[in-house]
Amino acid sequence: MGPVALIVAAGRGERLGSDGPKAFVRCGGRPMLEWSVDAFRAAGVERIVVALPAGYEAPAGCIGVSGGAERSHSVRAALGAAGDPAVVLVHDAARPLVTAQIVEDCLAALTAEVDAVIAAAAVTDTLKEADGHDVVRTLDRSRLWAVQTPQVFWTAALAGVMAQDDAVLAAATDDASLIEAGGGRVRVVPCPRDNFKVTTPEDLRLAELVLADRAR
Ligand code: CTP
Ligand code: MG
Repeated sequence: MGPVALIVAAGRGERLGSDGPKAFVRCGGRPMLEWSVDAFRAAGVERIVVALPAGYEAPAGCIGVSGGAERSHSVRAALGAAGDPAVVLVHDAARPLVTAQIVEDCLAALTAEVDAVIAAAAVTDTLKEADGHDVVRTLDRSRLWAVQTPQVFWTAALAGVMAQDDAVLAAATDDASLIEAGGGRVRVVPCPRDNFKVTTPEDLRLAELVLADRAR
């Protein structure tokens, strides 16, 4: 069985402040989720499981499951409907700018030496750690990555970490961190910054501009 995509789309999108759930907000003329589905299909991923908010349906040809309370719970729910692939890709529906090339690059990077590979962009800002507003230190930017999705896993590795307690999963902001916490090896796949996550209204506007630019 070929790689299976698990697209998490069950969030409310509180920071976007839209009427409905973020993955179904229109972006570039269609529900945001559909851009990701197209990118995975174009990369040859045939089976796509989508974790959904209550009352919403998966795009045609995708398998829909009910999402969970936190993002990782939605990943676990989607994994439950993946079937029996060797490899799974986890992706946020909130990243509509993902491309088939990114999906292909991430799939190609998963080797037997690692448990997972993650799309990430080199950090361009200077980042400082602060205690409240008091700067503690300036971080070494050359070692920092802004993490994205897709995150690609050997299914056995992801299933292993997903078997942990609800509270452990709830604390994780991405899935690879669960692998890291268990001593597993995770590698970064350098990706363009424009595979950003739509979180705020400004992000949505920027995503629409990038999509319009790509269509020209
Ligand atoms: N997600 C999910 N299930 C949840 C929470 C989040 O499937 N219980 C998904 C979102 O739909 C999104 C991705 O995880 O595609 C990344 O989450 P985030 O950007 O935080 O989206 P939301 O949780 O929807 O936004 P907010 O935190 O602003 O409410
Ligand atoms: Mg959220």
